[in-house]
Amino acid sequence: MKLLPHFSSLVDTPDGGIQRLLARALEVERNPISEVLRGRVLGLVFLNPSLRTLSSFQAGMAQLGGSSFVLTPGQATWGWEIRDGAVMDGIAAEHVREAIPVLCQYADVLGVRAFAGGRSLEEDFAEPVLSAVRSHATKPILNLESAVDHPCQALADWKTLDDEQIPGKGGRFVLSWAYHPKPLPLAVAAAASTMAARRGMDLTVLRPEGYAFPPELAQRIRSEAKKSGGSYVETSDRRAAMDGAHVLYVKSWQSPAHYGDPTSEAALRAPLRDWCIDESWFRPARPTAIFMHCLPVRRNVKVRDEVLDGPRSRVIRQAGNRLHVQKAVLLETLGVR
Ligand code: CP
Repeated sequence: MKLLPHFSSLVDTPDGGIQRLLARALEVERNPISEVLRGRVLGLVFLNPSLRTLSSFQAGMAQLGGSSFVLTPGQATWGWEIRDGAVMDGIAAEHVREAIPVLCQYADVLGVRAFAGGRSLEEDFAEPVLSAVRSHATKPILNLESAVDHPCQALADWKTLDDEQIPGKGGRFVLSWAYHPKPLPLAVAAAASTMAARRGMDLTVLRPEGYAFPPELAQRIRSEAKKSGGSYVETSDRRAAMDGAHVLYVKSWQSPAHYGDPTSEAALRAPLRDWCIDESWFRPARPTAIFMHCLPVRRNVKVRDEVLDGPRSRVIRQAGNRLHVQKAVLLETLGVR
């Protein structure tokens, strides 16, 4: 029996489902090569760039005996229109209403990456591309990072915390904002913080004034923390946030208070260059505290070399775990025991 019809978010994956995925990820980590997906095809649609997600899914499918194809709409393939009723006299030549049913005849499972539009929080929380794709799909759909979620990254991060034997209950997880020259989507920050809350950890979101999570996301995190017995606070006090921390997870995101207004957001962000993580950030933390980041990362802008190249960094392990957890997701969505 299949555990997952689609893999959109950890939020709609039951507790038992997450534990089963993590157990399968450990199995495939120990026994990486098999032929269980022989004859099966994974379609990968990237509306935005990738290094890890694209290569780890293709490698994982190959290691399980299956195959994959990659589409990059608007680059090597026709640009896509998402809106129902659109008059398609612009750049996009292909509508998802045809593209998805067509691809579902070729692939057994489809992964789609579609970042936030960044114009309106309301629009991005509605996940317009992922929703349109799902509504026209006849095969399982995997979220390869959407407007406000990145469940494959969150599951790999959960496994990384398990590998490190960092506790759920009583584990102190700090998600910190960092400076970045461009306004970035909320997806990874949302996925990582929701994952930590779901894992039962004490989550602190450390961010400058003006970067508080929007109510839609805060509510999602509170609800996950309530279910698991975790906790969630936000602060701009670095010392208080880092006190006793097991984990510092770093990500930049655009100011929700200035969403869709890049000029005022850039003015708010410009003086915040000192939000670049160096070793001094860890002084109030546990001596064994680890550093996490989803990658890619801008060295010496978001985080100093001394941290990325030092003993706290788990960024390579996190990326390695993408392979194992995604193989588990493929096996579960394709119903392979
Ligand atoms: N972390 C992550 O998703 O990496 P890519 O953007 O390279 O896929």
